[in-house]
Amino acid sequence: MGETLYPVPAAWAADALIDEARYREMYARSIEDPEGFWREQAQRIDWIRPFTRVKETSFHEADFGIAWFADGTLNLSANALDRHLAERGEAIAILWEPDDPAEPHREISYRALHADVCRFANLLKAKGVGRGDRVTIYLPMVPEAAVAMLACARIGAIHSIVFAGFSPDALAGRIVDCDSRIVLTADEGLRGGKRVRLKANVDEALAQCPGVETVIVLRRTGADVAMQPGRDIDWHDAVAAQSPDCPPEEMSAEDPLFILYTSGSTGKPKGVLHTTGGYSVWASITHQYVFDYRPGQVYWCAADIGWVTGHSYVVYGPLMNGATTVMFEGVPNWPDPSRFWQVVDKFGVEIFYGAPTALRALMREGDDWVTRTSRSTLRLLGSVGEPINPEAWEWYHKVVGEERCPIVDTWWQTETGGTMITPLPGATALKPGSATRPFFGVRPALLDNDGTEIEGAGNGCLVITDSWPGQMRTVWGDHERFFQTYFTTFAGQYFTGDGCRRDEDGYYWITGRIDDVINVSGHRMGTAEIESALVAHVSVAEAAVVGMPHDIKGQGIYAFVTTNADVEPDEALRRELIQWVRHEIGPIATPDVIQFAPALPKTRSGKIMRRILRKIGENDVSNLGDTSTLADPSVVDHLLANRPQLA
Ligand code: PRX
Repeated sequence: MGETLYPVPAAWAADALIDEARYREMYARSIEDPEGFWREQAQRIDWIRPFTRVKETSFHEADFGIAWFADGTLNLSANALDRHLAERGEAIAILWEPDDPAEPHREISYRALHADVCRFANLLKAKGVGRGDRVTIYLPMVPEAAVAMLACARIGAIHSIVFAGFSPDALAGRIVDCDSRIVLTADEGLRGGKRVRLKANVDEALAQCPGVETVIVLRRTGADVAMQPGRDIDWHDAVAAQSPDCPPEEMSAEDPLFILYTSGSTGKPKGVLHTTGGYSVWASITHQYVFDYRPGQVYWCAADIGWVTGHSYVVYGPLMNGATTVMFEGVPNWPDPSRFWQVVDKFGVEIFYGAPTALRALMREGDDWVTRTSRSTLRLLGSVGEPINPEAWEWYHKVVGEERCPIVDTWWQTETGGTMITPLPGATALKPGSATRPFFGVRPALLDNDGTEIEGAGNGCLVITDSWPGQMRTVWGDHERFFQTYFTTFAGQYFTGDGCRRDEDGYYWITGRIDDVINVSGHRMGTAEIESALVAHVSVAEAAVVGMPHDIKGQGIYAFVTTNADVEPDEALRRELIQWVRHEIGPIATPDVIQFAPALPKTRSGKIMRRILRKIGENDVSNLGDTSTLADPSVVDHLLANRPQLA
């Protein structure tokens, strides 16, 4: 494959924190002597009691376990806030840009953020929240969301952020699963000029959550919302009475920090659990080196705090490094498609980290929306969440970055806590579409379906063969599921669920999920979740969901639906089912295509042959492979003959 190679720009090679020689040396050391390497690197954290133990990990059933720095103690919020106060207390921690550019932005110094966090932490304590308690956060992209996260970390409570685009049902499921008794929300959220009725969603969800005793409601739009006496309290009023002094709790390295629900190939979403010490080391070291971050630079990660990217690279990583982090409430294309680049100019952003889906959407609007802005402060660009197609990469590089800015295409997962395979801007020559090489301490391997390791160039299932500090520690409430999900497909290896190619230069190219997970606009969806939403509708007998290629979203959602015998499927039902799924899960799960089918292709033992459905979804029907084991091969002919016309 004649892919283009973009060498490290000379200025970067000369000035970066990590150049090629240093990358090689540090990477080799991290693999040969992980104990020594991480003992040193973990000194970036202010420990309350220094650790003596470093790495106690095994992926094998007999002695399975993952612990890092286990006898050390620390507090993450102190690392993100208190440690900066003496030298950079007046530096801006959070630069907040509202949805509507006509509304004023906010600048919050480290000192002010520290006081806000302490006040809110005291409020949580006053509401009976303590170490190990779960706090559900259902907030828009406002600074108070970061305040809430840091306040939990300060008192040792475990936050569980639920993306504010999720439905009341999805929210309820997550509240119940981790048994949280307190929910933080806002009256409404604002996105692209539209209002999202967050408090109303919470009220609807709480009908299913009798355990919730307290709801703290932030006034964002000032909308008139119902407040339930005894349960609901006003954020501002309650916080005003609290002291701005709250000593950080001394937490063990392996004490839980947060739960974040994510979709897998089966069952309901899993509560991915991250702990305090290893995650702190991982989020901060990756943020510093991947973005070559230097104090004083304005850094912007355009992810929502509802996803792991927002946890590690809007809030925790940057703040631990004393960064000025931009928090953006809005969307890329409202009021117009210049919005991102206007914000870059407004704040003098030097590092911008975004998702391919947004870039593809903006690319379609034409270059003019970009080129009419200056962007002269930009020096580095990043990409995350899904494979970036070379076309979008080239556009990002040429039009947005004016060929001046390296692009770090970072591969990682909710489970990994932070970036795993990524270029380092001063070290790595780039190939558009490749996440390039492993970060320090990461040992990737490619296995074929039998688990045999592929050496050199080749294509296979991506596994990580040894632990790294930022690794998830368990699935909340289901340790067995953690082990089963990640460590049994290939015994003794962490299985990522991704397919991957390695080229002759040792560069990694993620090819996408090889399980029943699809990636819609960088959001991870389990096909099983959408299927169970569909079959919950009274008219639906059976459903199967697969991914389909989508120009903007990367993957779209293609649903095959069999209705009950007494139901005649029609356009009205199609529309109703689309609304139904939006209501059950949230707008991000909106099916792009619903194909009604009298039957789904099944083997004689009754298993749906998803391989065939995937091919139909991908519009790759010239060779459907072996269909001889189907109970009724004519089902496939019917599916092919009745495919909806796609735009
Ligand atoms: O398939 C990979 C894809 O996103 C999945 C992880 O999704 P999630 O846990 O939601 O985390 C997203 C933010 C890190 C991965 O299994 N993915 C993520 N980054 C990339 C990617 N695929 C290709 N290239 C990437 N840079």
